[in-house]
Amino acid sequence: MTGLLLVGGKGTRLRPLTYTRPKALVPLVNRPLLWYLLELLRRHGVGQAVLAVAHEHEQIEAYVASGGKGMGVTCVREEEALGTAGAIKNAAEQLGATFFVLNGDQVMDLDLGAMLEAHRKKGAVVTIAVRRVADPSQYGLVRREPDGRVLEFLEKQEQPPPDASEINAGAYVMERAVLEEIPAGEVWSSEYDLFPRLLRSGAPVYAYAQQGEWAWFDVGSAERYLAATRQLLEGRTSFELPESQAPRGWELRAPAVVDGSAEIGPDAEIGPYAVVGPGCRVGAGAKVFEAAVWEGAQVGAKAVVRGAVVGCGARIGADVTVGEGTVLSDLSRIEAWKDD
Ligand code: GDD
Ligand code: MG
Repeated sequence: MTGLLLVGGKGTRLRPLTYTRPKALVPLVNRPLLWYLLELLRRHGVGQAVLAVAHEHEQIEAYVASGGKGMGVTCVREEEALGTAGAIKNAAEQLGATFFVLNGDQVMDLDLGAMLEAHRKKGAVVTIAVRRVADPSQYGLVRREPDGRVLEFLEKQEQPPPDASEINAGAYVMERAVLEEIPAGEVWSSEYDLFPRLLRSGAPVYAYAQQGEWAWFDVGSAERYLAATRQLLEGRTSFELPESQAPRGWELRAPAVVDGSAEIGPDAEIGPYAVVGPGCRVGAGAKVFEAAVWEGAQVGAKAVVRGAVVGCGARIGADVTVGEGTVLSDLSRIEAWKDD
């Protein structure tokens, strides 16, 4: 079985962090976002991952070439981004008779095995994982029969119709036959073009609604990124957290993860809901909470970082307060202003 991961988007809503890296490589609790999807595939016995790359493809290719993924991973590149369906068509040679397709910017505890079984039982050509969220307007909406048969797919509606309370969770099982519906070499969207076309032609498209509570979150914006960090730290997913350094002369307020190679000064406070990446330096008496500090960043003595994302190698001077909602690009620098 093969899992195709769509990782070629521009990640515009996560700028400035995605000026220098693709969204799939954004570190989330000290692991690239892509790690969580590969781990999900691996766990469900999917032996082969295909990454549909476009924007910033070199970095993803280098990540794959660095090995250690515990499964076969290949990249298929689009010269020009072909959209969410065009990317699938472009990877056709790597795909078998039935395959998974996952959006590459989310973390989820979806039971791929159960979804595949449901897909086969229904004889579907496409099965779409669906779930409920508080605000469905930012997602694809699915209207369906009680038995799962999809009636309508509506991408991003400001006023969602009342009978379309489930959203597209960005995970599909597909039959190879659907590739014939996608024109080769053209920009084509699954959400706007492929699904509506299949539904118009009466093709069996089904929704799969996993029973019970299951973790699912996308990492579309900085706000959602920090919410995702929080959920992972709280242990609300099945993904194990990476090892954290034990405090020596500084305070760790759980939940928090501090990479073993970070240097933390005396009396600093890390957490709750904080992540400190490899090679970071946090000065004496500094406070970092509800925040993610990425690899190689520095936080000066007595500085406060709260509710912020600090890009790789950024430097925050002593005594500076970086407040809620701040997103600092890689290598940026902030110093406290001192009048002489
Ligand atoms: N290879 C490739 N080529 N990948 C692409 C392209 C492309 O041209 N365009 C987008 N992608 C990838 C993105 O990198 C992302 O991982 C995924 O496809 C979905 O694109 P987004 O741009 O993140 O879409 P969205 O978040 O607005 O909406 C999608 O996800 C929602 C769930 O998070 C839709 O599928 C919605 O229906 C869904 O509810
Ligand atoms: Mg998205």
